[in-house]
Amino acid sequence: MRVSYDFRDSVVVVTGGGHGIGAGLCRAVAKAGGVAVSADIAPNSALSEIQAPGRIEVASVDVGNAQGIQGLLQETIGRYGKIDAFVQAAAIQPRQEIEEMSQETWLRVMDVNLNSLFYAGQVLMPHMKSRRAGAIVAFASGLAQTGWAKASGYATTKAALIAFIKSMAKEGLAYGVRANIIAPGITDTDLFTGPNNEQEQEFFRVRGGGVGTVAEVVPLLMFLISDASRSLTGALLSRDLIIHPPETADLKDQM
Ligand SMILES: NC(=O)c1ccc[n+]([C@@H]2O[C@H](COP(=O)([O-])OP(=O)(O)OC[C@H]3O[C@@H](n4cnc5c(N)ncnc54)[C@H](O)[C@@H]3O)[C@@H](O)[C@H]2O)c1
Repeated sequence: MRVSYDFRDSVVVVTGGGHGIGAGLCRAVAKAGGVAVSADIAPNSALSEIQAPGRIEVASVDVGNAQGIQGLLQETIGRYGKIDAFVQAAAIQPRQEIEEMSQETWLRVMDVNLNSLFYAGQVLMPHMKSRRAGAIVAFASGLAQTGWAKASGYATTKAALIAFIKSMAKEGLAYGVRANIIAPGITDTDLFTGPNNEQEQEFFRVRGGGVGTVAEVVPLLMFLISDASRSLTGALLSRDLIIHPPETADLKDQM
């Protein structure tokens, strides 16, 4: 029942690939023999030094900037002749109540988390359609269903990404271009420990379904970008166990 992947000759672009889940995926792609392009606003140069059958190319990009992400994708296609898979892991989650959040911050969240996939799609869709192959993966979140105080922008983008990916899947269907979305569940990365205060972290650890690890999420991403999932498109794969927001929890007052 063991699974192993052969990604030789495969090119996978991972935004937010410098840290957290994205970096874990880059390592797994390189381990499977592929080329991972780790695209991040905070590039992690150590990734390019890993010893693996494949390799990780580290790129600096702001995905919220259309020219930035589109330029990177065009350069990658120019260099390798193709992109087999694109994973949009980059995201930000500033925590502010609606009346406190500046329009600038709101628009930045939209740009980084959501518009970035539209910008990328404008390059990826014609490229992948012409090759009649390609896999695109985005990240949703449990907060898309529950909402979360002070995370309106983030939650909104995660809900919108589900509709966007499903639309992408329909546009790609006749061309063998797949688009799926994963809700990874609460995962122990900077995006969990940064925005959530101690009480919130405690809530997730104890009552919100538990905190998972990058190592638990990466195999699902490998599945979604590989031929193993070639009959799967337009799907939301959810590891999210958050059933109830903490409406009566002790931490209600803090949130
Ligand atoms: N960690 C969780 O609990 C959790 C839960 C649900 C969904 N997710 C989703 O999983 C995905 C991966 O998140 P993670 O937990 O690994 O977080 P993370 O913070 O560890 O990684 C996110 C990466 O995105 C990068 N990034 C931020 N802004 C960028 C920009 N403008 N351009 C390029 N890169 C940028 C960061 O530098 C970072 O490396 C995200 O889409 C997130 O919304 C995470």
